[in-house]
Order: sequence, then C-alpha cells, then structure tokens
Amino acid sequence: MIEAYSATSQGRVNAALDTLFTAPSPELARLYEAMRYSVMNGGKRVRPLLAYAACEALGGKPEQANGAACAVELIHAYSLVHDDLPAMDDDDLRRGQPTTHKKFDEACAILAGDGLQSLAFSALLDPRLSDAHAEIRLHMVSALAKAAGPAGMVGGQAIDLGSVGLKLDQKALEYMHRHKTGALIEVSVKLGALASGRAEKDELKSLQTYAQAIGLAFQVQDDILDVESDTETLGKRQGADIARDKPTYPALLGLDAAKAYALELRDQALHALRPFDAAAEPLRDLARYIVDRRN
Ligand code: IPE
Ligand code: IPE
Ligand code: MG
Ligand code: MG
Ligand code: MG
Repeated sequence: MIEAYSATSQGRVNAALDTLFTAPSPELARLYEAMRYSVMNGGKRVRPLLAYAACEALGGKPEQANGAACAVELIHAYSLVHDDLPAMDDDDLRRGQPTTHKKFDEACAILAGDGLQSLAFSALLDPRLSDAHAEIRLHMVSALAKAAGPAGMVGGQAIDLGSVGLKLDQKALEYMHRHKTGALIEVSVKLGALASGRAEKDELKSLQTYAQAIGLAFQVQDDILDVESDTETLGKRQGADIARDKPTYPALLGLDAAKAYALELRDQALHALRPFDAAAEPLRDLARYIVDRRN
C-alpha cells in the first residue's frame, strides 16, 4: 500500500521538480546543473509524500499540493547540500552519490543551496503547481519561511553544530531535533493541508500534533540508522554521527530505548489522526513507515 502510494507520489513530485532547473542563460548552466544534481538524485521524497497525503486527508486532490511538495523538497535538498559541506558535517556521500561540493566545488554547492532555497518559495507561488488562492499562498509562504529559517531548521542546525562533543540532556536534544528536522516535516503536512483549500482550524490542530510526533520520530530513526544500518543501504556514510561525536538519541538513551521512543512517537501520531476517516490512511501509513524504514 505505502509502496504504491510512494511510487505514484514520487513520480508526481519528480515530474513537477524536473521542470524547475532550466538555466535561463548559458552562463548559468553549471549552477543549474548543480541544483538539478542536488535534487533529482533519488531521495525518498518523504516530505512531498506528507504534503500530498495531508491534502488528500482533507478531501483535496494530490495535484493541488504540487507547489507545496516541490517547495518542501527544495528546502530539504538545500539543507542537505549545506549540511554536507566541510564546515558542517563534512560528508562525501549523499543518496549513494558524491555530495554536491565533491561533484562540483564548495562555492558552487553553497550557491546551489542558496538557489534551491529561493526556488522553494517560487514554487509555492507558481500557478502551474497549485490552484490555491492568494491568501492561502501568503499563509503558506509565511509558514515555510518560519519553518525553514532561524526559528526552525536553520536554528536546529546551529544548535547541532554548536553541540558537537557536548552531552545534551533529553530536553535539549529534543529541542534540537524538533528544529533541525521536525520543523520542515511539520510544515510539509501543514502546506499540504492548506493546499487543499479545505483546512479547518481543528483539523489543522490535529494534523499539527501528528506532524510534530512524526517529525521528531523521523530524526530519532535517522540517528538509529546511523548506528545500525550500512553505508550502501543508507546511501550516506554509516557511523558518521559516532565518528563526529554528535549528540543523538541512541548515544543518549541507548539503542533499545531510542527504538522504543520512536514507536511511542508513532503511536502518538496515529492517535492524533483518530478524527480522520479513511482518506487519512496514507498519513497513517507514513507514520508507520517513518519508524520502520531502513534508509
Ligand atoms: C535526511 O533526510 C536528513 C534528515 C533530516 C534526517 P532523508 O532521510 O529524508 O533524506 P533523503 O531525502 O531520503 O535523501
Ligand atoms: C540533517 O541532520 C538535518 C538537516 C539537513 C536539516 P543530519 O546531519 O543527521 O542528516 P544526515 O544524517 O546527514 O542525512
Ligand atoms: Mg547534520
Ligand atoms: Mg549530516
Ligand atoms: Mg543523520
């Protein structure tokens, strides 16, 4: 079920993303090539899937969420390009291929990330990618800016880099994870819901509770996979957190307690979806997938 849903949704977002990287002049060919390389390289597309599934949970058509799906994946891709830079996590492998700064060069990777961030906001405003009213688009731009920026993902990354080698307690670790990874996952659900044009206040609240739980669960599982998966399956270097003495859930709680916590968060997410009918089944499947995934 989730496999078929994922394949369809990945095809949908990939087709929409593929239209966004045409260089307007030959001088910009390399920059656009680096942006394309950083996005069209086989990511799982979890954030777009969440946007589509949230839109459908409210009775919307998935196509209505194309702008939201592209926007969150573009922000995600930019965050990964910068996360992998030598000044940050200094990783050579991403999605099974050389990281953008290895394939191109550091300056090009920095600029490609910057460019992807701008393209994300353009995608939200692109009439080809959604039929949302201007007021809804404004709400979406504001929500994405907050989630991606210094009070969201960028803030979480700053805490992450400032915490290397330190012993964070569980409260501080949770704060970091909710920002660096949770914020973008949370807004993926919100943007998808808004794109449906049918989101009511109480539904948005339930979806937010769901999204906050899976957003944290996603990073807990990412930390777990760093310990117990392998480089080939992950498409990124296994053991990178341990090598760099990063604060993670397995390091703080131990592997078994980290796994139990991920399952508890999944159950909290499923609980939050109780008011929704069968149209929310993809969202339920995604909550299960996020803690069962092997890469
Ligand atoms: C990896 O994200 C980085 C985190 C925020 C944990 P994903 O696991 O979604 O990576 P891709 O997009 O599938 O490569
Ligand atoms: C990445 O966290 C979070 C963001 C990119 C915002 P990680 O540093 O754990 O991600 P991976 O493990 O390199 O994919
Ligand atoms: Mg990192
Ligand atoms: Mg990293
Ligand atoms: Mg990681």
